Amino acid sequence: VQAEIGSTHVVVTWSDGQHIELPHLWLRDNCPCVQCRVEQTEEKIFHIQNVDVNIAASRASVDAHGEHEQLSIVWPDGHRTVFTRAAVEASVAGRYEPELTYWRSEFSPTTVDHDAFFSEPEEAAAALEAFLCTGVLVVTGAPQTEGTLEHYADRLGPIREMFFARIHDVRVDPSGYNVAHTSLPLPPHNDFAGMAWPPSVQALHMLENDCEGGSSVIVDGFGLLEEFRSSSPDLFEALCTVALPFRMFDEEHETYVVAPMVSLDHHRAIRSLRYSNQVMQPMDPTTPGIVDFYRAYHEFSKLVLDRQNQARFRLEGGHVLIVASHRVLHARDEFVPNAARHLQDAYFEHDNLRNSFHVLRRSLTQA
Ligand SMILES: [Fe+2]
Ligand SMILES: [Zn+2]
Repeated sequence: VQAEIGSTHVVVTWSDGQHIELPHLWLRDNCPCVQCRVEQTEEKIFHIQNVDVNIAASRASVDAHGEHEQLSIVWPDGHRTVFTRAAVEASVAGRYEPELTYWRSEFSPTTVDHDAFFSEPEEAAAALEAFLCTGVLVVTGAPQTEGTLEHYADRLGPIREMFFARIHDVRVDPSGYNVAHTSLPLPPHNDFAGMAWPPSVQALHMLENDCEGGSSVIVDGFGLLEEFRSSSPDLFEALCTVALPFRMFDEEHETYVVAPMVSLDHHRAIRSLRYSNQVMQPMDPTTPGIVDFYRAYHEFSKLVLDRQNQARFRLEGGHVLIVASHRVLHARDEFVPNAARHLQDAYFEHDNLRNSFHVLRRSLTQA
C-alpha cells in the first residue's frame, strides 16, 4: 500500500498489489473536493491553466480501509485532494455502452408492443438496448392514425424536423419530390445524404398497407463495411478518404455536401455510412484516388445489393420500423399500387435515444 511521486505521475499500489499510474495534471484537474466542483451539479470549477504545467504532488499516500481504499494528495499550495479507489477505477472502466452486433438476411428485428414501449420501463429499456446493438427496432400495435410519431418523442427524444414536412407522408403521389412517391423499387440508401449531419435515426410508421409487394428491406451498413475492411483494406480506405458530392434539391431547397461515404472515429471504428445512389452527384473526374474510389464503390455496392445481406419483411399497418440511419440502409421492393398504402416517417437523433436508454437504465438499477 503506497504512492510514489514520480516526475509526471503518482504511482499507486493498492493493498491487493494492483498498480496504476496517475498523471499529476490529471489528479489536479479531477479533484472532487467542494472547492473544485459545484456541489449541486458535480460540474468542475477548477480550471487547469491556474496551476503550473509542471505541478507535482508534494505528498501522496494510500489509506487502506478494506474495500474503501483512498489516495490522498497534498499539492505545493497546500490544496488537498482525495480520490476513492472506486472513483479511480470507474474512470478507467468508462461507462456501459451496448455492443454492436452485425446481421444479414436471416435477421429479424426485435419487436416491442407500442403500449409496453411507452408504459413499461423495463420493456422500453430492453427494446432500446436491442436498437443500440443492432441498429433496428420494430414497434407493433401502434395506432394507425396520422401524427402518431409525434408521441415517439417520449422515448426517442425530440423529432428532428427536416424540410418538406415535420412528419413526411409517403404514398403514391404524381407530384411527389422523389422516387419514394412512386410504386418503383427503392434501392438501399440513407436519407438526407446531402447534409453534413444527416438525421441519425429514422422512424417509418406504416398506417395501412394493403398493396401486393412492397416488402421493407434493411441492410446492416456497418456489418458489411467491417467485412469489406477485412477483405479489401485498400478499397475500404478509399471509401473513408475520397470525398464526393451529394445533393438534394427542389425548387425551394438546396442541400449539398462533399464528404466521403464512410467516416471513422478516433479508434478507426465506423461512425457513419453515407450511401445514396439517387442523390450522389458527378465527382470531379480529376479527384485524386477516384479510380480506387470507383472500384471500392462498385465492390461495396455488390455487397449492399446482395439479397443474402438484406433482411426483408413486410411492414403491416400499425408497425413502426426504427433504424439507426447512419448505420442501417433502408429500401423497399416494388409494389402493385392496387390498394391503400400509407407510410409516415420522421427523424430523430441517435444521441437522444442513447440518452433515453441510459436514463431508463439508471432508473431501473436504482429502483
Ligand atoms: Fe428513404
Ligand atoms: Zn480540490
